[in-house]
Amino acid sequence: MANSVLGAAKLAKNDEFYTQYYDIEREVNAYVEYNPDVFRGKTILLPCDDPEWSNFTKYFAQNFDRFGLKRLISTSYAPESKRYKVYEPTLFEMEDPKYDEDKTKTNGKIFVLDRDKTGDGRIDVNDLDWDYLEGDGDFRSDEVKRLRDEADFIITNPPFSLFREFLAWIVEANKRFLIIGNMNAITYKEVFPLIMENKVWLGATGNGTDMVFAVPKGTEVKEQDRQKAARLGYVGDYTRLGNSCWFSSIDHGKRHQPLPLMTMADNIKFSRHKEIRGHDYQRYDNYDAIEVPYTDAIPGDYDGVMGVPISFLDKYCPEQFVILGITKTWFGGASKTYGEQIQVSDGARSRVSKLNDGAAIEKAEVPTGTYYIVEGRMFIQVYARVLIRKVL
Ligand SMILES: C[S@@+](CC[C@H](N)C(=O)[O-])C[C@H]1O[C@@H](n2cnc3c(N)ncnc32)[C@H](O)[C@@H]1O
Repeated sequence: MANSVLGAAKLAKNDEFYTQYYDIEREVNAYVEYNPDVFRGKTILLPCDDPEWSNFTKYFAQNFDRFGLKRLISTSYAPESKRYKVYEPTLFEMEDPKYDEDKTKTNGKIFVLDRDKTGDGRIDVNDLDWDYLEGDGDFRSDEVKRLRDEADFIITNPPFSLFREFLAWIVEANKRFLIIGNMNAITYKEVFPLIMENKVWLGATGNGTDMVFAVPKGTEVKEQDRQKAARLGYVGDYTRLGNSCWFSSIDHGKRHQPLPLMTMADNIKFSRHKEIRGHDYQRYDNYDAIEVPYTDAIPGDYDGVMGVPISFLDKYCPEQFVILGITKTWFGGASKTYGEQIQVSDGARSRVSKLNDGAAIEKAEVPTGTYYIVEGRMFIQVYARVLIRKVL
């Protein structure tokens, strides 16, 4: 009981991460640099947001004229519906004639920007209109769905606990989008097929590097994360996540820059990685591909299938490589299924089935880390690999 309460509290906090203005600016700039008219005449919906807390609305409102937007809509989620319920209405809200003490707790809000309300000759954050939604602002509600259907772009940092559902919600309406998620989402069966079909790709900036997020005042943050955020210049109620990245269906220039690569022979001679220098590339036992443990060790002259780390997708250029699959059971690309497997880890032996959920490499000598024994043969398993081939 105590554990599940603790778990719920942690999860709740996980949904309350607020994106930094600089991170949004840096990422969105890449799309506008690539196509200055990308947002011209368009409607952007920022769901799961709240200008009082978050920077997405502020950023797009401040750039409304520069981007030539038609309409900016953002919606927020009711404090009572949030799993992490700490909420204090701001002075801005309480002094507004629309303020309703009850509705403020139970209803979501909508913020719309489409005209120069103040008459100062420009459209910006001061021209935002707001009102309460009829419901709590859940992105799955009919009310927010209607706003989604009206929009050309959906942009936000969605609740981490609902990432799969949120992406499906965008895809079912066939909208262009830019959202933040965890890099591991690449391996989800709801996400990877979209990447493989070039309907979704990683954004232009910050993928896999530390990303700092504000958290509600007083949220418990691991000291190590608080210190890392502070070193990046964010002192106070901030945390950092090392594995976050942008998922996008808006084109940017970085994804069209081919990776500079060495030949296989040069890699074997000169690679900075000790696993590559002086060795042949290893082949998997259960996939018809070679193992490439580092993106910068991809042999540029190899025409066969290669297994590369998921972080390769940060460097993926569709004109240079085709994506053929991923080494996860759900994808179903393995050439064989192992029967009885014994896992040996720190000397402890256990019967498992996980050797089938990844690429396996046979070893002639007893490996140093965890390994598996199948019918007297020894294997190690590598992390999830994306299977790629050069565009021929
Ligand atoms: C990761 S935070 C990001 C907030 C903001 N978009 C930002 O980037 O600063 C996700 C927000 O979505 C809200 N949320 C959680 N479940 C939701 C739902 N079902 N519908 C809409 N919003 C939800 C959370 O309460 C949280 O405020």
